Amino acid sequence: MNTQVCELRDDDRRPPASDVLQVVQRGLGMRPKRLPSWLFYDERGSQLFEEICAQPEYYLTRAEIDLMNVHAAEIAQVLGPDVRLIEYGSGSAIKTRMLLEQLTTPVSYMPVEISPEPLRESVEQFGRLFPGLAIQPLCADFTRPLRLPIPPRAPRRNVLYFPGSTIGNFEARDAIDLLRKMRNEMGEGGGILVGVDLKKDSAAIEAAYNDKAGVTAEFTLNMLTRINREIGSDFDLSAFRHRARYNPMAGRIETYIVSTREQQVRVGRARVTFGEEEAMQVEYSCKYSLEDFATLATHAGLRVQDAWMDPQRQFSVQFLVRA
Ligand code: AVJ
Repeated sequence: MNTQVCELRDDDRRPPASDVLQVVQRGLGMRPKRLPSWLFYDERGSQLFEEICAQPEYYLTRAEIDLMNVHAAEIAQVLGPDVRLIEYGSGSAIKTRMLLEQLTTPVSYMPVEISPEPLRESVEQFGRLFPGLAIQPLCADFTRPLRLPIPPRAPRRNVLYFPGSTIGNFEARDAIDLLRKMRNEMGEGGGILVGVDLKKDSAAIEAAYNDKAGVTAEFTLNMLTRINREIGSDFDLSAFRHRARYNPMAGRIETYIVSTREQQVRVGRARVTFGEEEAMQVEYSCKYSLEDFATLATHAGLRVQDAWMDPQRQFSVQFLVRA
């Protein structure tokens, strides 16, 4: 195995438990209450997200895979040879594999992931799948400036790969900031390959976040289980429920944890009151038209060089370069 494969760089900026307490306290102090969506992804949460991807209503993952099936070769052509591929997150093994299989002599693959466990798994998996490829994992929060490891040889270009429509979790302002940061990181001649879920019939979007089997509801409420475990709060899971609605004006799914009755929850030393039917915001999943996203890119000093869609035109993968 490659020597770079097993050592995770000690660049882990994951918030320690005290930070989770602070983040939760701050979020519960806001009006309306809101908690950041990265709190979903403890071990169980990541597992539940994988299950969501297999639900019949959750079209995003299948559409992106269909897209890669049809277009991965052409995408690889556009990226060109000797690419250093830097992935934001590491949960998307299938799509990344489809891309790497098509790339001509990639220089290295660098997954950037905040949780050490999934990062280690992806390193092992890609080490097995692509024995000749240098794999350079980075355990870090990709919303912060990254210290990229030195590649084994000079790449022709850096490509930041951000699949899965995770960009949709950021409100326009934050998405622009993140794209700007990525623009700096990729350097002159670099590019961003980003998965973006598209606007469509709102019933189809809403169904994707309200699957019949209730996996998404469990995923949402697991945030409370995680918080209880990590900061010792006493959220009663039977007194909260999941709610996800499409806001057509804003073009986004808005997910809430709703209190089913008036109640008090102990958080650290404080008691926090929830009213009956009070909704705490936990996630936005923004949907874009091709035009919307092109405008967003412009605000970050980027332009869309190419955009691909799956055959049903549900999802897009877009290649952004400096404007
Ligand atoms: C992983 C952020 C793309 O917003 O669709 C799935 C997360 N939340 N179901 C999304 C999610 C509820 C997902 N992303």
